[in-house]
Amino acid sequence: MSTIENSSGTRELAGKRALVTGGTRGIGAAIVRRLLDAGAAVLTTARSETGTAPEEAAFVAADVRTRAGAEAIAAAAQELAAVPTVAPPFLHYTTAKAALENYSRGLAAELAPAGIRVNTVSPGRTATPGGEATREQWARLDAGTDQVDTTAPMGRDGRPDDIAHAVHFLVSPGASWLTGSGLVVDGGEFPRG
Ligand SMILES: NC(=O)c1ccc[n+]([C@@H]2O[C@H](COP(=O)([O-])OP(=O)(O)OC[C@H]3O[C@@H](n4cnc5c(N)ncnc54)[C@H](OP(=O)(O)O)[C@@H]3O)[C@@H](O)[C@H]2O)c1
Repeated sequence: MSTIENSSGTRELAGKRALVTGGTRGIGAAIVRRLLDAGAAVLTTARSETGTAPEEAAFVAADVRTRAGAEAIAAAAQELAAVPTVAPPFLHYTTAKAALENYSRGLAAELAPAGIRVNTVSPGRTATPGGEATREQWARLDAGTDQVDTTAPMGRDGRPDDIAHAVHFLVSPGASWLTGSGLVVDGGEFPRG
């Protein structure tokens, strides 16, 4: 894996701590690898540990949908003093994601005076086992079919590392004045304008 250095030759996230939920597969695992490589100490979570979880990251097994799981993660994060980065969980899916973005904007305004930044990353169709399983489920339900069949104008599906790069940027010193923002990383998938 390549080492990510800043202009002074040091690993730019050295001394930083990150909590990446859902870091054993797909997008989360790519984020864990990227942040580790940039020098951060990383705590990651999932319901079960798998062989694909980067070994250098600390791991806590927890289901984020349960109070007990959330408490276990909060306790482990307090030890590391880290902040959450990514959470996994169809109309309720997109509704929850939209609510999360609005919540994040409000949280960003509230926490800015304390020097805490809050940003969201919205991935487009990204090639992961979880992404494929969700799209198959949508197709079976015949729901969101237009999205299932969408090919991004950039001509390919996203790779987990495309999303990890965006997260890396948002947590890097170069983004120190960036908060309350939503970064859409989707190869131009959704019409905007
Ligand atoms: N891939 C795409 O095309 C795409 C597009 C847009 C948005 N996203 C979003 O990006 C995030 C990651 O997607 P992905 O495709 O990388 O998913 P993935 O490959 O299925 O990985 C999901 C990760 O989350 C963990 N996880 C799932 N449910 C959990 C729960 N209840 N409690 C704790 N951990 C849980 C999984 O481990 P365990 O199963 O062991 O718990 C795994 O580590 C998700 O929020 C997804 O909605 C993905």
